[in-house]
Formats: sequence, C-alpha cells, structure tokens
Amino acid sequence: MSNSHVEPGVDERAPEVGELTPPDRTLMGPGPSDVHPRVLKAMSTPLVGHLDPSFVEIMDEVQELLRYTFRTDNRWTIPVSGTGSASMEAAIGNLVEPGDTMLVPTNGYFGGRMRSMAERAGGEVVAVDAPWGEPLDPADVERAFDEHQPDVFGFVHAETSTGVRQPDVDELTDIAHAHDAFVIADCVTSLGGVEMRVDEWDVDAAYSGPQKCLSCPPGASPLTLNDRAMDKVLDREEPARSWYLDLSLLEGYWGDDRSYHHTAPITNVYALREALRLVAEEGIEERWARHREVASGLKAGLRDLDLEMNAPDEYWLPSLNAVRVPDGVDDAAVIEHLLDEYDLEIASGLGDLEGDIWRIGCMGHSARPKNVEYVLAALEDALAEQGY
Ligand SMILES: Cc1ncc(COP(=O)(O)O)c(C=O)c1O
Repeated sequence: MSNSHVEPGVDERAPEVGELTPPDRTLMGPGPSDVHPRVLKAMSTPLVGHLDPSFVEIMDEVQELLRYTFRTDNRWTIPVSGTGSASMEAAIGNLVEPGDTMLVPTNGYFGGRMRSMAERAGGEVVAVDAPWGEPLDPADVERAFDEHQPDVFGFVHAETSTGVRQPDVDELTDIAHAHDAFVIADCVTSLGGVEMRVDEWDVDAAYSGPQKCLSCPPGASPLTLNDRAMDKVLDREEPARSWYLDLSLLEGYWGDDRSYHHTAPITNVYALREALRLVAEEGIEERWARHREVASGLKAGLRDLDLEMNAPDEYWLPSLNAVRVPDGVDDAAVIEHLLDEYDLEIASGLGDLEGDIWRIGCMGHSARPKNVEYVLAALEDALAEQGY
C-alpha cells in the first residue's frame, strides 16, 4: 500500500520554519529606508490582474506621479519591474548600441556598474576621472568629449558610495548635447529627496530605485526617457540584448496598447503608487527641503561628535551622509553595536572607501528629526565603547 498520503503538518521531510518575525530595525543606511506605514498598508491590498482595467488606471496614475517626481513631461516614464539595477540596465542597455561609445565616471562604485552594463550592451567605454569623494568637473567632461566623442554619457547624480552630489547637471548636459550625445543620470539615491529636474536640466534618460528617498520596498524602479532618447531606442539596428528590459517591447505594455509583456509586480506597483502619492501630498520641493533640513541636523550633530564628513559642503548629499571613521576606531564594531544594542542600521564604506567611512542615510520616511536624534545618541554611545 502506498504511504504517499500524509497528514498535514506531519511530513517529516518538510522544513520546519517558524513565523516571520524580522527584528524591528530603524533603517538609516544606504537603503532600503524605513517604509511608510501607508505604503505597507497598500501592499496588503488584494491583487487584480496586470491587465485588469482597474490596474490600467493605476498604471496611468503611477506614470503621472512619476512624471511629477522626476519633474518631467516625458511620455516615456515607467516603473521597471526589478530593482534599481533593472531600471539602470534598461537605460544603458537600450541607449547603448553595439559600437557606440559611452562615457562613464570613475568617482564612485556605481560608475563602475555603468561601465559593466555598457560593455555588456556591446559599447566601447571611456572614462572621465575624478577621485572617489569628489564630483565630476565639467572641464574634465568637456575634455573627455573632445577626445572621445562619446555617443552616450552617464553620470551618477547622487553617489551612494561616497555621499557626493553631482552639481552643475545642466552644464554637463549642455556639453553632451553640444556633442550630440545622450545623457543618462543615475538618480537612485536622489529621486524624491534631492533636487533633480529632468526637463529643466535637459537630462535624456534618468533612472532610480524606490527603496531610497521614496521609502518604498524594492521591486518597481522608476525610469524616464525623453522622445529624443526613445527615438534612438526605437531606431536601433539590432534589438537590445535583454528581452525583458527591451523598451521597444515594454512599450506594448506601458504605452498605448497595454498588451501583455510580462506579469507586472502588482503589489510593488501599488506600493510605488502610495509612496508617490505621499511625495505629491508633501510637495516635491518641500520634500527636497525636508531632506536638506533633517540631514543638516544630522551633519551638525556629527560635527558635535567631532566626526568629519567625507564630502565638502558644496557637494554634500543630504540623502547619504558619508562620515570619516576616526583613527583608532573599528568601523565594523560600531556598526555591530548599533545593530545589536539599538536595532539601528547604518553601513560601512564600499570599494575605495571601505573601512574609511560610515554611510548614514537620511531618506524618505527615515528622514525625520526623531531618527536623527536616535542615530546621534547611539553613535555617541558606540564611540564611547571604543574609548573615543
Ligand atoms: C547610485 C546607485 N545606483 C544603482 C543602484 C542599484 O540599485 P539596486 O541595488 O536597487 O539594484 C544603487 C543601489 O544602491 C545605487 O545606490
């Protein structure tokens, strides 16, 4: 007799996994940030189909809210299914054609990722240099254009690895456009928290992630392209190498047809809609101002603790505060102390700055005076533990 029938809950081979009880952290690292309760609530809304007429309406609303947040009228404004790297690869993998040259920055970790993606897209890659911890100098960008005549230029507006904000965006786009190139801006750590004006600053394509200044879980990532950039994408001689991220195919779903391409992550789209509704309620400029004000309080408190910021004030990035680790202090021990004793997340340095800085985020719903007070008190304690 077969013994395949097993009583529920008594299959000895079934892994015994308890209820989900993650710790209750305060997220003040480089992302994700604390998710707003309204966004969490939106995520428990029952699903409708990804082609349901009601979902099509939700898609329109998300697109409209994204345009508001990006400060653009671009028709081509969508949430890409996937994390920030997906919207990044959608921008680079569609705009860079085999044989194109892309100019990328070397002043942080994410410029390196741009390089890898452009190479995989079949592009030649050339670089414009600046040290980690400094923005690009427009004069260097101009020189790189004169030397290499790139077709596409990518820069990181808010470099999460260094805490540096790229100023002079309109100067950079002027240089690129004078050379007939397309500009891609990485706004993963700036969208919804730090001033970014896609249309006014003439950025051709910009991408972001939801889990930073939008305080939404990762999963549906903002992307916008102007008509000029989209014309290049639609005129490609050979299709983009990724089927999933091919914008000429995604147009069928997010454009006028609304026909099946893939099953959109419905819950993430709900979440993004609510997160963007919060941006619209607050007002985008007010939100930029809140990030600046709250992070200024953090910066002042860090200085009171005799800690030094990694970026000079002119390029300081309110959403990501990179702080120098003082001599003699074990950076990892401090991070561990905050996590163990305070349920508080901050992060260590990445790449060239590993061991040299802490990265303290001040993003979205996490950008509140109460969180700043908490992080400062916890840091003071952790540093005292180390005799600092
Ligand atoms: C500046 C920047 N670009 C791209 C990414 C990639 O996003 P994700 O990790 O969501 O794929 C990140 C993530 O932290 C980032 O900070």
